[in-house]
Amino acid sequence: MTKVDLSGAAQFFDAAGPDFAAAAEAHRLLAQRSGPGGDFTGWLDLPQKMLSGGIKPILSAAQKIKKLGQVLLVVGIGGSYLGARAAIELLHGANHNRAEGETEVWFMGNTLSPDAINELIAVLGERDFCVNVISKSGGTLEPALGFRVAKALLERKYGRTAAKKHMFVTTDESHGILRSIADAEGYESFVIPADVGGRFSVLTPVGLLPMAVAGIDIKAVLEAANAELHELDLRSPDNPAWQYAAARQHLYRRGKSIEILASYEPSFRFFAEWWKQLYGESEGKNGIGIYPASVEYNADLHSMGQYIQDGPRTLFETVVMFDSCLTGYSVPFEMGDADGLNYLAGRDFGDIARTTAQAVRSAHIAGGVPNITVSVPRRDEAGYGALVAFFEMSCAISAYMSGVNPFDQPGVEAYKKNMFAMLKGEN
Ligand code: PA5
Repeated sequence: MTKVDLSGAAQFFDAAGPDFAAAAEAHRLLAQRSGPGGDFTGWLDLPQKMLSGGIKPILSAAQKIKKLGQVLLVVGIGGSYLGARAAIELLHGANHNRAEGETEVWFMGNTLSPDAINELIAVLGERDFCVNVISKSGGTLEPALGFRVAKALLERKYGRTAAKKHMFVTTDESHGILRSIADAEGYESFVIPADVGGRFSVLTPVGLLPMAVAGIDIKAVLEAANAELHELDLRSPDNPAWQYAAARQHLYRRGKSIEILASYEPSFRFFAEWWKQLYGESEGKNGIGIYPASVEYNADLHSMGQYIQDGPRTLFETVVMFDSCLTGYSVPFEMGDADGLNYLAGRDFGDIARTTAQAVRSAHIAGGVPNITVSVPRRDEAGYGALVAFFEMSCAISAYMSGVNPFDQPGVEAYKKNMFAMLKGEN
């Protein structure tokens, strides 16, 4: 379903072009689970597993949560929140929490800012709510403190015993403090499979439970991801994941060390955040790695556009396009044509946006910015599921091509170690 168009990058390739033999070898390592971090490749068959039974308890918990409150507070950070937020914003729009009658989903535990915590408590007000605390390790400070806050709020409102049925925990099956607390308190809990790392976990209960509460059809998401993973098993340069992975590694070797992920949909912003974590943590190690950045067009054409067009030529651009918009809106006709825009009257905004995108693409290519276009048919559950599977698959292949383990994050551990030592007054 996902298509990759490299025609805007081809003129920046050398005569040999992207190394598809290396992509084939990376794909082989991944599929045989024999590369570095091979124990963390459970995401490859996750959609299939979830579809054969795994989503039932998630759907029934989502129903309970909707009955118990108007708000769900999701406590998590990194891979334990970005995918769900990406889905909810992409599919319901940037104003997703304003839909009449829907359970609102808000995110906490991803900051230590007291102002942000107080703001969220004010948003919650006197309304009934549930909490879904998500942490694979169970020991990450930001969500652990967020959990304390959320638990205290629940217990203050409902009392210690009744609060328990408002708390839903998603964590490892047997390891970590959060698992021990969930079992001791008797909270309803969900398992993050041991062979799926945080940033690859969106299609486990980590992402699926908040999505289901928000009214997203998680079965459709999983079916699309499953179909995409099957399509991406193709062992040929026609495989879109090989094309994307091999093109970006080739561009990196030719001095393009920054990749900007762009979209013309404002609702794509958190998908780009999810993508940045996926690629940044998977590839940025051992002193190498493409720096993943993101922009939101058209808005950023008037802020970052200058830099992209004219700054250092170390960038390439990956633009995610949706083939058709979900709705239409025509430019109104105005008597007198005071602003001189009647030549656009009656034209659909989607049509104008597509023309703008073509103009931007050719200007950027002419300015020395290679363009990769990734497209799916629509901004819906199927599009989201396909994009998740596509970017996960391409990421693992790309990381193996560059010779790193896509599934560890030693740099994140380094900051955690320092922070805990300083907070305990040990240095
Ligand atoms: O990809 C990863 O594993 C990390 O970025 C985690 O998602 C992040 O650190 C949160 O960890 P946890 O879910 O253990 O709280």
